[in-house]
Amino acid sequence: MNDLKILLSSEQIATRVAELGKQITQDFRGESIIFVGVLKGAAIFLSDLARQVKLDSTFDFIGVSSYGNRPSPSQELKSGWDSTGEVRLTKDVDQSMREKNVILVEDILDTGLTLTYLKKILIAHQPRALKIAALLDKPSRRKQPIEADYVGFKIPDEFVVGYGLDYAERYRNLPDICFIPRE
Ligand code: IMP
Repeated sequence: MNDLKILLSSEQIATRVAELGKQITQDFRGESIIFVGVLKGAAIFLSDLARQVKLDSTFDFIGVSSYGNRPSPSQELKSGWDSTGEVRLTKDVDQSMREKNVILVEDILDTGLTLTYLKKILIAHQPRALKIAALLDKPSRRKQPIEADYVGFKIPDEFVVGYGLDYAERYRNLPDICFIPRE
């Protein structure tokens, strides 16, 4: 396993998350929000972001997994991460989204397959507004034409861990976002 290198420090992340929180507070002034986090990677981002939004809010979580022959993490590191494109719901939201302001919170927007799938599902719940907040964005990897409304950082095509993101379920608790150099 290669050494981890810091891409974004916890201080950089905290500053940017505070900016995003301020922007969301302004955009939804006087209204309520439901934050819907995508399990498990968005849990840390959601908890920090929500505390920077000075509005009435509730939390919900949605779960997804990918079908088929997703490569093992070590293959992903050698040849580049690749999703098979088939996403399946493992946990739906618990509360009604009808006529509510919903912010779908994701750790990283990569190929866009996951968020394209989730956006469709949430639109079926008929929210008043649906916005996407993604801490990280790897635009060079996109397979679906989707953009987030609130983006923390655009990053190059590196496999990153920390601040909720994992490699085989590890490193989610690192305070910084690090990348694993490819071999
Ligand atoms: P997408 O469907 O390709 O946009 O991928 C979104 C999901 O892929 C994220 O929620 C992450 O779980 C995972 N992912 C994509 N890139 C990375 C990475 O660099 N590190 C860890 N997980 C990643």
